[in-house]
Amino acid sequence: MGVTAAGLLAGRHALVTGAARGIGLATARRFLEEGANVVLCDALAADVEAAAAELGAVAVPFDVADEHAVEAGVAEAERLLGGLDVLVANAGILRQGPLLDQPLAEVRETLDVNLLGVLNCFRAAGSRFRDRGAGVLLATASQAGLHGYPGLGAYCASKFGVIALVETLAKELGPYGVRVNAVAPGLIETAMHRAHMAGIAERAGRDAEDVRRRLVAGVPLGRPGEPAEVADAFVYLASGLASYVSGATIHIEGGECT
Ligand SMILES: NC(=O)c1ccc[n+]([C@@H]2O[C@H](COP(=O)([O-])OP(=O)(O)OC[C@H]3O[C@@H](n4cnc5c(N)ncnc54)[C@H](O)[C@@H]3O)[C@@H](O)[C@H]2O)c1
Repeated sequence: MGVTAAGLLAGRHALVTGAARGIGLATARRFLEEGANVVLCDALAADVEAAAAELGAVAVPFDVADEHAVEAGVAEAERLLGGLDVLVANAGILRQGPLLDQPLAEVRETLDVNLLGVLNCFRAAGSRFRDRGAGVLLATASQAGLHGYPGLGAYCASKFGVIALVETLAKELGPYGVRVNAVAPGLIETAMHRAHMAGIAERAGRDAEDVRRRLVAGVPLGRPGEPAEVADAFVYLASGLASYVSGATIHIEGGECT
């Protein structure tokens, strides 16, 4: 993958999941700015259609937890783009609750979307990349994929699992010229982050703004991150600048956990 004056991702064809808002939307935007052709996927069909229209890109709505929908969606994205070089498996959900008490249905839902959803996308795109002998698979893990957090057990299990998928597939697909990497964001200002703050506040009987201040106080850079700051890491990992990077997890967390 070469780096050209037209952009770090000029001529690349990319599919980004969870792209109706937040980190996925920022990633789709940055990829377009760097010259890629992008298909946006999300389970929220109307929202992702609107987001894609605003960016001048195309949407293919599907649920990443449905393996058949993923295979059909990846095939459709490839057809619309005229090829597929990069897949960003970013879609995710966060359901909070103590592990001993959280309803098993919520744990299953979390694993279905966050872990099997990434595997479904990696299988659909990865098999094409393996056959072609090139391609880049990327995923959004989390600091909760590296450390346990109270109230986030199911989410942590799913994100530890994402890093396991990335490290394993990097070894299995490296011989075919396919790179596989993850980013592990910390506190990033999105709808998910705001719902997380509200959930902690509710369980602790505290004010959401107070919870936010305390969490931000633990970040050496003194602020939450922006979705675009995670998107920049995806641009790097998708580009020729990362041609010798595979099996890696890049921390985007303002120094919080290092
Ligand atoms: N915001 C943070 O602080 C933070 C930190 C670490 C990791 N992450 C991870 O970043 C990723 C993006 O999160 P965000 O903060 O932008 O959240 P968000 O809730 O703003 O966006 C997530 C998007 O994924 C979509 N989605 C959910 N389930 C889906 C499914 N089954 N199929 C297709 N799309 C689905 C949602 O509709 C939504 O548009 C997630 O994987 C999340 O776990 C976020």
